[in-house]
Amino acid sequence: MEEAQSRTETMVAAQPAKPSERTPKAALKHAHGSYGEGDLTNLDAVAAGIQVCRRCDLWRHATQGVPGLGPAKAVLMIVGEQPGDQEDLQGVPFVGPAGQLLDRAMAEAGAPRDRVFVTNAVKHFKHEPRGKRRLHKTPDRGEVQACRWWLDAERRLVRPKVILALGATAVQAVFGKALPIGKTRGQPLALDGGEQALVSWHPSFMLRIPDRDAKDRAYAELVADLRQAWKLAE
Ligand code: URA
Repeated sequence: MEEAQSRTETMVAAQPAKPSERTPKAALKHAHGSYGEGDLTNLDAVAAGIQVCRRCDLWRHATQGVPGLGPAKAVLMIVGEQPGDQEDLQGVPFVGPAGQLLDRAMAEAGAPRDRVFVTNAVKHFKHEPRGKRRLHKTPDRGEVQACRWWLDAERRLVRPKVILALGATAVQAVFGKALPIGKTRGQPLALDGGEQALVSWHPSFMLRIPDRDAKDRAYAELVADLRQAWKLAE
């Protein structure tokens, strides 16, 4: 499990993609110029900013940006990696297969989804075409760094007591560095913003584990981590 995780970490640590030189200058100016930190006074402004974001190139092949969703003053924030195919089409985080698994785990953990702010490290769907399908591609470190602007804005506005980072990309975005999930999970860590942070496995990673026992173990750990996060936050 840790091995698969570290493969993901290697991908996250890969060199950032070079921004395309074809990005229209006006769009760049709009995205950077009209949304200074001071303009992001509420989550609607953040959601609007994400729709015109040109901080990296991922907007080009995405249907839309997917902002976080949940109460404006949620005590717990869950951070995933990036929208998947369904999230990209619906504009809502965690509604596809990984979202269904997360919903089930949250219900088992007693963490009500409607009281939790659920978001992603990266707001646009990174993928490559494979026939008629769009296959998920892990965002690189440059894309994660570019999108921290939006995650940090969500953190500033929601001010959650606890942040639970799911998977290597979320860990990179929340902590600004890679951490081994298997060794770090279960231990609350203090963040500079004053929040407590926990880490756990990403539900999509769990869906890909072929071994039944390993899958069940990872799922049980996710439930335990959600339970701990909700207890700390309440
Ligand atoms: N995986 C994520 O990390 N986020 C989503 O919203 C969906 C799948």
